[in-house]
Amino acid sequence: MVINGSVREGRAADKVQAWALEVLKQIPGLETDLADLKEIDLPFFNEPVIPSMAKGQYQNPKGTAWAKRVAEAEAFIMLTAEYNYGPTAVLKNAIDWVYEGWMNKPAGFISYGGVAAGTRAVQQLIQNFVNVKLFPISGNIHIPHIRQAFDDHGRPVYSGLDENLKTLVAELTDLQKRLSR
Ligand SMILES: Cc1cc2nc3c(=O)[nH]c(=O)nc-3n(C[C@H](O)[C@H](O)[C@H](O)COP(=O)(O)O)c2cc1C
Repeated sequence: MVINGSVREGRAADKVQAWALEVLKQIPGLETDLADLKEIDLPFFNEPVIPSMAKGQYQNPKGTAWAKRVAEAEAFIMLTAEYNYGPTAVLKNAIDWVYEGWMNKPAGFISYGGVAAGTRAVQQLIQNFVNVKLFPISGNIHIPHIRQAFDDHGRPVYSGLDENLKTLVAELTDLQKRLSR
């Protein structure tokens, strides 16, 4: 599952997403479920039963559908911008809505931002992962200076990113196999 973690009008995330999906298409046997949080449109978590007790069943059908969709995924690539030295609130919120569905699965990041390339957002989310037993990988992609990071054809201006993304998927696949043994 590729999670697009920005819902902002005119988001840079669209360029990151389009490039990532193009590269992922080239990987034989890989099935991708694009989870665009803008379309999924979850409210801030407001259920009476907390996710670790709810067994994926919520009053709000959007929450139930999201928990089910996450549970069906085997591994995650999260696209996150950096907002105020942290992740986007919508991405953290989407993580909060689910419990078992994340468990014992690997997750990687394509982060982006200014000079710090979204790295501070990633570090915060990795702390959050511990409680839902999501396993971070090390080979994440961090794209700096996002406004200048893609050319007019949607290609990254930094060299090697396509290969980096393929390596990220290989690391996710390897960890997914180990975790599901
Ligand atoms: C509320 C807000 C806070 C931001 N804070 C940071 C920041 O701490 N570090 C950074 O590198 N960029 C920051 N930015 C700039 C974003 O990296 C840039 O706007 C990027 O395009 C956001 O991704 P998006 O367009 O996909 O939402 C911030 C942007 C917003 C909207």
